[in-house]
Amino acid sequence: MSQTHARITASVYTSHVPAIGAALDLGKTGTEYWAPLFKGYELSKQWLRDHTPDVIFLVYNDHATAFSLDFIPTFAIGCAEQYQPADEGWGARPVPPVIGHPELAAHIAQSVIQQDFDLTIVNKMDVDHGLTVPLSLMCGQPQAWPCPVIPFAVNVVQYPVPSGRRCFQLGQAIRRAIESFDRPLNVQIWGTGGMSHQLQGPRAGLINSEFDNAFLDRLIADPAGQAAVPHIDYVREAGSEGIELVMWLIARGAMADAAGGPAPRVAHRFYHVPASNTAVGHLILEEQS
Ligand code: DHB
Ligand code: FE
Repeated sequence: MSQTHARITASVYTSHVPAIGAALDLGKTGTEYWAPLFKGYELSKQWLRDHTPDVIFLVYNDHATAFSLDFIPTFAIGCAEQYQPADEGWGARPVPPVIGHPELAAHIAQSVIQQDFDLTIVNKMDVDHGLTVPLSLMCGQPQAWPCPVIPFAVNVVQYPVPSGRRCFQLGQAIRRAIESFDRPLNVQIWGTGGMSHQLQGPRAGLINSEFDNAFLDRLIADPAGQAAVPHIDYVREAGSEGIELVMWLIARGAMADAAGGPAPRVAHRFYHVPASNTAVGHLILEEQS
């Protein structure tokens, strides 16, 4: 039977360290420091070329770039035609504009809000390293990104932040929304940010590989269990910016097994320490039919 509705085909998880974007933009990917990191994404770039979706639903966090501390949406969905790379203080990254998918984004907004999640609708914004660095890691340096992207911004910068449980449930709602869109689109959902890192205070530089690898294990095998972990555990164990990891639970909640279906297949797993002040983690999970 031919496909009539949109479906989720895979989820991708990756850190978004801004220095990775700078390494790419300044031609430093082959240096002793950076080469091992980029090597971990070689398979991923080939995988994405082999499995290019029609749309990427990209969960990330804005770093007080598009949303200043004047207003802070907990969950914001990008419904625009296009987004420009943001100037974060050193000029905009030399990467392509991000083409949106307003029709699917508007449908997801309608469906998810009717499933009782309060989303902020965004019709104009620039996208910062939280969104562009994951695209660069997965796509390299193309003239144009391989498909439209729906940016979905989560507040993990200013407390209070949403719980892992709410993020997981939101992912389940996003899956239902995508599956009810009556066009045969293949959609990937990406969860980005993390892994352990802390950028300020007495614990600046904190990295906890044990926590990170346990998180990866549990995200794969027991995502509902991981979703029950309170936010204070992330802050305590993975550092103040380690809380970015709750965004991975949105992508994980959108996979079939969180709706009673089969468990996904692990297509790739990679962990590397350090990149700048951050532990870098990466997973690709494919849906099994
Ligand atoms: C770094 C990491 C981040 O996630 C971020 O948003 C900014 C900086 C870092 O490692 O330097
Ligand atoms: Fe960050």
